[in-house]
Amino acid sequence: MRKKIVAGNWKMNKTVPEGEELAGQVAAGVSSVPAGVKLIIAPPFTHLSCVRKAIAGSGIGLCAQNCADHEKGAYTGEVSAKMLSSVNVEYVILGHSERREYYGETHEKLVKKIELALEQGLSPIYCVGEKLEEREAGKHFEVVDSQIREVLFTLSPEQMSRVIVAYEPVWAIGTGKTATSSQAQEIHAHIRKTLAGKFGALAEEISILYGGSCKPSNAKELFACEDIDGGLIGGASLVADEFLAIARSF
Ligand code: 13P
Repeated sequence: MRKKIVAGNWKMNKTVPEGEELAGQVAAGVSSVPAGVKLIIAPPFTHLSCVRKAIAGSGIGLCAQNCADHEKGAYTGEVSAKMLSSVNVEYVILGHSERREYYGETHEKLVKKIELALEQGLSPIYCVGEKLEEREAGKHFEVVDSQIREVLFTLSPEQMSRVIVAYEPVWAIGTGKTATSSQAQEIHAHIRKTLAGKFGALAEEISILYGGSCKPSNAKELFACEDIDGGLIGGASLVADEFLAIARSF
């Protein structure tokens, strides 16, 4: 059985006290979420230790939004996978389209980041997804395939078994424009088929999350799709009630 996951990517939002409060609210509401749905929150680096305390004992997973592509050393401003694991972070978002677009993250860098994260026992949440012009040109399958082949196909099956995939069409992120459930299901099934081409039956065990304007009002329909195993939530994860309502949509 694939894990059902609802992960909140806070991006660059909330001060530390605000983040502590939000994490506490999510932890307080966790009992309203169906058993078997894993909640994960991804605050900024500065918040991780405080948020860890705020969610202690709740079963909520703690996730970072990035890690360095080097192990350690003279890389001013970077945070390593080892540093994250030293504050008990369990997951790390890698390859988010905002990082690909604004910070020049290449496939080569992402391979290094994923390897370093896995070495430290972190589970990467690896993001893929096409831009609007790529979808309009009918190239979405091709784009997502290359994001998968060039990065995830470098992993061993054992490494791959610890990766979560998130499909986030760039045109749906923060725009209020969600992929329809049939658009999302179509590409999720395609991603699973691509993974199966390399990893065989393991592809059935990999959780593939949908991200992009996922809200309480559309989560139920999306999560009902066979190959959608949960969501990676941006804006709606900044309000505890909305985030929890999405997690109750299973
Ligand atoms: P929104 O839910 O705000 O569209 O963001 C999605 C996202 O980028 C999550 O990583």
